Parts: sequence; C-alpha cells; structure tokens
Amino acid sequence: MQTLAIIGAQWGDEGKGKITDLLAEKCDLVVRYQGGHNAGHTIWVNGVKTVLHVIPSGVLHPHCLSVIGHGVVLEPENFLAELSKIQKVTKVTPDNLKLSSTATVITSYHKLLDAAREVQGPEKIGTTGKGIGPAYEDKVSRRAIKVKDLLDKDTLVRRLSMGYAEKAILFKHLYQIDIPAIESEVERLYAYGQTLKDYVVDTFSLIDQKLSQGKRVLFEGAQGILLDIDYGTYPYVTSSSTAASGIYTGAGCPGKKLEEVIGVAKAYTTRVGEGPFPTELFDDVGAYIQQTGKEIGATTGRKRRCGWLDIPLLRYSVKCSQLTSIALTKLDILSNMNELKICYAYEVNGKIVDCAYPGINLHNAKPLYKDFKPFKDSFDGGKPSAELDTYMSFIQENLGIPVGIYAYGPDRNQVVFRQDYHAGR
Ligand code: GDP
Ligand code: IMO
Ligand code: MG
Repeated sequence: MQTLAIIGAQWGDEGKGKITDLLAEKCDLVVRYQGGHNAGHTIWVNGVKTVLHVIPSGVLHPHCLSVIGHGVVLEPENFLAELSKIQKVTKVTPDNLKLSSTATVITSYHKLLDAAREVQGPEKIGTTGKGIGPAYEDKVSRRAIKVKDLLDKDTLVRRLSMGYAEKAILFKHLYQIDIPAIESEVERLYAYGQTLKDYVVDTFSLIDQKLSQGKRVLFEGAQGILLDIDYGTYPYVTSSSTAASGIYTGAGCPGKKLEEVIGVAKAYTTRVGEGPFPTELFDDVGAYIQQTGKEIGATTGRKRRCGWLDIPLLRYSVKCSQLTSIALTKLDILSNMNELKICYAYEVNGKIVDCAYPGINLHNAKPLYKDFKPFKDSFDGGKPSAELDTYMSFIQENLGIPVGIYAYGPDRNQVVFRQDYHAGR
C-alpha cells in the first residue's frame, strides 16, 4: 500500500485524528488536502491529549513529513499559534512540516463575514465561525490571497485591494461593521508571512517526487463526506471537497489511484450545527450518548447532536468516495446500553429507501430500525462478544466493505485490527 486516505464517513468528528495518528506510524507523509481550522482532530497518547486544527495528525511521529496542501484554507495567526503549541510537545521545523505556497489565506474580513451572516441569516448554517466559507468564496471568484502572496508586500497590497473596496461597502451598509483598514491588514498579514515563510514550498511537486520515490502517503480528510460542498447535505455543509475527490483537487496525487480509502465512522451518528439528521435522538438515550461519549466539539465547544447509526447515509458515503473499509470508533460508548438500534433504511413518502441519495429529502425520511441485543464488552483484550460481532457484521454486510479497524477508547492503543485484515498497513 503506497497511497491511503482517511476520510470522515459521516458529519465530521468520527475520530479521524486518532486513526490517522495510528496509521501514520507506517507512512512517510501525512497530507491535509482541504478545510482549515474548522477541523479539530484529537489524539491521545499515554494520557496526553493533542488537538490539531490544520497541522496533520501524523505530526507526533518524528519520521513523518507533515504537508498542508494547496486545497487548505489557512488562517496565519491560528496556524502559528497551533505551531507554537505543538512545538512544546514534539519537534516541528521547516524540515518536517511543509505548507503549500498556493493554499488560500483566511483574512480578518472572512471571519467577520462568516459571523455576520450567521447572526443576520436568512439561513443559519451553524458554521464554526472561522471564516472558512467566505475564504473559499474568494478562491472561486479568483480574488483570494495565496500563501505566497504574503511574502511580497507589493503583491499582497495588489491582491488584497481587489476585493477590499467592495467588502468595506458591504460590511458598512449591510452589516454595520467596519473592517480593518487595508494598510493595517497588509501589515498584519505580511508580518505573519515573514514568520511562516520557511515552511512554504510547492507541495504538489513535493508529493509527486515522494510518490515517485515509492514513499507511503496518507491523505488525511477533515470534516466528513456528508459535509462535502457537492456530495453533502447542502446547504448545511462546509465549503470544501471533503470527499476523496478533494484529494485530487486539493493536494494532487499525480497519476495515482488511491489504493485504500478508509471511511471513519462512529458506531452511532453525531452532527454539529444545523441540517437534517434522520436518526437524531431527542430523548434520554440521545442525552446518554452525548454525555457518555463526551460529544462536545473539539473546535467550538458546542454540544454535538446524537443519534443511532445510519446505514443509508453510510451507503451513500461508500459510493461517494469509493471507501474500501470502515474504521468504526467509539464502540465503548455503546457498551452496556439497555437498547441498541441501527437504521437500515428510510421510509420516504411511503417508499422504502436504503441509500441516502441526494434526491431524497432527509427532513422527510422516517428511519426504520433493526434492534440489536446490547453488548457488554469491556474490551480487555479478549475476543469481542457474539453481540458485538453481530453488530459489526451487520454493518459490513450492509455496506459491502469490511470493518477493518474498531476503536474502544480515545487512546492510540485502544484499537483492534480485525482478524487478518491489514487496514492501512
Ligand atoms: P475527528 O475530527 O474526526 O478527528 O474527531 P474529534 O477529535 O473531533 O472527535 C472524536 C472524539 O472522540 C475525540 O475526543 C477522540 O479523542 C474521541 N475518540 C476517538 N475514538 C474513540 C473511541 O473509540 N472511544 C472513545 N471513547 N473516544 C474516542
Ligand atoms: P472535523 O475535521 C464537525 C460543520 C459546522 C457546520 C458546517 C459548516 O473536526 O471533523 P464551516 O465552519 O466549515 O463553514 O461550518 O460544517 N463542521 C464540522 N463539523 N467536524 C468538523 O471538522 C467540522 N468542520 C465544519 O459545524 O455545521
Ligand atoms: Mg473534529
């Protein structure tokens, strides 16, 4: 296996950070290809917690080269703060961390615009408020600042001026907000550029070169397939290509087919922010999962909405990203429950539907459940109980791909590679 992707198969926060950290041990490069610091990827190693936002989750392995690809949106102040935090935990230098010269920069006004829209509506998305959407909008309208533009003041002034007059008017008249003067924004961004310039390279060439040298590359997804701008539950999505397709546009994997695409899924379902969620639980069971699973966002601290595992959504994710296996996390949270269910299909307008195709109105989907005998595993190194085995077998049979890895705790070691299936190795 030379190329491997780890992608969220639900609405984010599935445990991608943990699985990436785990499999990075056997990889040479870990590459982020989209999203920004809206992501929060948690890793626990021997009781020490690390939360990463744009720095790839292979960073705790000294041999791993961390790459932030050109599809990422980068907020320089946050990046530098994250960098100095992680430098207290492990050695990170321009030798083992590379930032794409053509990644898009998130500026002050992107964050202000994100917040203003969320307050004023008309449709609240429940964004992370980090300026992600507005930054991607500027990229698509060809007005974005790229990381390399931070390194030359004249270019920075020219590029920033392109949208500034328009934005100042928009903010003043529509949102009654004054944005920072262009001069101060130039000085701020240029100063950040000087601090981060040693990390900046052409990451496309770098990945191309490493692949031709036979190095093993892990592409780390952020968010989840159901938040993808094209495949997700629009408009309640993020603004990037979170699915496997984002790897080709956001990092480059030149001429190479991805050999393995692991979809990370929680053993139940969660979602942060607005949008449809057919299996959402509003009762004590939902509250129990939220509390026991400590379902609180790693980036925004918001409570995550919780519900039963949803097979139609996962079937759709398998198709969107050609997932080759599932890494199933948080099984420990379901252990010892009094009831256990999986949604195997929906009833929509009197019809049974087993895949959450985009044509289906998820607001209208009534989940159909299969009851499972609760499992009471303590995950102490023994074999999984027959009940747990039945739960996982149902998932893999219905998705048509194996559950190759399952996790039963936040720590790096709290995982099982199933039978003789060598996921990511
Ligand atoms: P990511 O965004 O996909 O990397 O996931 P997050 O880090 O946002 O959220 C996943 C949360 O679940 C984190 O707090 C992890 O430490 C935790 N976690 C991951 N796998 C497991 C597991 O199997 N069991 C338990 N109890 N916690 C887990
Ligand atoms: P990781 O990588 C969960 C959600 C937000 C909101 C929508 C749009 O940790 O899994 P945005 O700020 O991106 O414009 O918000 O997407 N969202 C996430 N939900 N995990 C994430 O990242 C998310 N990143 C964005 O809550 O509903
Ligand atoms: Mg997260």
